[in-house]
Amino acid sequence: MKKKQFYFGTNLKMYKNISQTVAYLQELITETKAKQIDFKNTQLFVIPSYTSLPSARQIVKDSPVFLGAQNMSWEEEGQYTGEISPLMLQELGLDMVMVGHSERRHVFRESDMEENKKVLSAVKHNFISLLCIGETANEKDFGISDEILRSQIKIGLHGLSKQDLEKVWIAYEPVWAIGVNGKPASVEYAKEKHRVIYDCLVELFGDKAQDIPILYGGSVNPQNANQLILQEHIDGLFVGRSAWDAKQFASLISDCIETCKNS
Ligand code: 13P
Repeated sequence: MKKKQFYFGTNLKMYKNISQTVAYLQELITETKAKQIDFKNTQLFVIPSYTSLPSARQIVKDSPVFLGAQNMSWEEEGQYTGEISPLMLQELGLDMVMVGHSERRHVFRESDMEENKKVLSAVKHNFISLLCIGETANEKDFGISDEILRSQIKIGLHGLSKQDLEKVWIAYEPVWAIGVNGKPASVEYAKEKHRVIYDCLVELFGDKAQDIPILYGGSVNPQNANQLILQEHIDGLFVGRSAWDAKQFASLISDCIETCKNS
């Protein structure tokens, strides 16, 4: 089986301070080189805390690693205490912005309409917008996961032009699968939902849908990563805890690539 491009990234959430982030990135770059990961068809990205971004930029600037922010205001400036403007993130030379992570939606009560404003603002400011979507355990139990995913996509990507789509990536992260209390989705379940997401993108954008990477996240670990990455419409993995040890993350990436090559 052939995949034209792989995507592997990590969200450092509210972990790792500046010096820890710098050490982590240095080790990740060294380890991926040691494992001879071919960056021609692998895009690696790291999304650390805001305070680490300027130092992180210095570390990744001559490397193939993309750097992103965990959130962003849709406004450029104004009376928005505590928010970060896209212009401020542009000053840092970032590649991407994550929008609508499950913890933003569920802990901080962000809505689909707010995520949409952020996606539109992110692409307008020339960032890749990594839109995170996923159903809660309750929504899954009610049997409405597909409807939830479809509405998160339809609202989240509303108003984008076909050209804007070049700057859109999707991360499917079932809320019940994320974090210390999460239970990883089975490979079959993840595959089925990635198909739902892909079909919805085709319905909205036709052929252009093929170019939108769809990553899986939620308790990805060295045991399940190889099987997940083999599935159709799983273009990459968005990893939390299992990526925070740089050596382990580099091994996970290299094992996934090998598995795909040999399949
Ligand atoms: P875990 O891999 O720790 O479940 O976290 C996933 C995640 O939230 C990535 O954004």
